[in-house]
Amino acid sequence: MNLNRYLKSRKEIVEEELKKYFPEELYPEVLANSIRYSLLDGGKRVRPVLVLAVADLFNTPYEKVLPFACAIEMIHTYTLIHDDLPAMDNDDYRRGKLTNHKVYGDAIAILAGDALLTEAFRIMSEESLAKGIEPKKALKAIYEIAFRCGISGVVGGQVMDIISENRDIDMATIEYIHTHKTGALILASIRVGAILSRTTSKDIDRLTNYGKKIGLAFQIMDDILDIESSFEKLGKKTGADIEKKKNTYPSVIGLRESKELLNDLTEDAIDAISFYGERAKILKDFAIYLRDRQN
Ligand code: IPE
Ligand code: IPE
Ligand code: MG
Ligand code: MG
Ligand code: MG
Repeated sequence: MNLNRYLKSRKEIVEEELKKYFPEELYPEVLANSIRYSLLDGGKRVRPVLVLAVADLFNTPYEKVLPFACAIEMIHTYTLIHDDLPAMDNDDYRRGKLTNHKVYGDAIAILAGDALLTEAFRIMSEESLAKGIEPKKALKAIYEIAFRCGISGVVGGQVMDIISENRDIDMATIEYIHTHKTGALILASIRVGAILSRTTSKDIDRLTNYGKKIGLAFQIMDDILDIESSFEKLGKKTGADIEKKKNTYPSVIGLRESKELLNDLTEDAIDAISFYGERAKILKDFAIYLRDRQN
């Protein structure tokens, strides 16, 4: 299947499922509205579609991985809501509309993030039990997500991102920031798809390698777009990294070198799954799509 059609159809599957978890009648109403505002509108859905794409590679039925894919998108949404808060990046727009705290206030935005993170773990556990997913696999997948989102993952990366503003840092630190604040959840998406499938340790190694490369590439591209794109295309403010004196790949190694690195990482990612040949065409095209994306 052509990647565009694949993305569209898988995105629809994920969005239908996400809606079911957060019906309008949830109480407290303001919390439900705040969650739905950020979770159900816009977003490329890169991470959950990657979970499904890895499941497809190993012929794993969707029912098995869909709750995990949705949980990852919920966690991603929590990180965005918190990332935009005044105490963090202080952004007013996301996905072409006001950020969550601009509409619901800081307190509800913080709590909506807390709820999304917590409910993600509820859904993964509840659905694993309900669907009879092998307990060991379910536990492994849930651990994977917890590990990549905590101190050794997203949160650690976000802390280093924030405390490195206005400071000169070395290459190792900037690589740490990017691989943790963003790379970790992308890697978790890919590994969870593999963990829940019938895979060998060699399969997991190949997919891990692929995930690490596209995870880092993704944030490098986010940095490049912050410089070269526009609000209309991105739905979020551009030029924000320079304004906040953020350490980014372009700010440390320059735009040209960042683009070269983005290319190299994409090639490495494709090499990492070359073993699967045509069967991995979607994942190969996905890496290219992420390299060439406009938003
Ligand atoms: C933006 O993520 C934040 C980063 C981790 C770089 P996405 O670019 O995936 O944002 P949405 O979900 O499509 O809006
Ligand atoms: C976001 O990095 C990383 C997370 C949300 C975990 P950025 O701060 O660069 O993302 P944008 O540019 O605001 O989407
Ligand atoms: Mg940030
Ligand atoms: Mg930000
Ligand atoms: Mg950014």
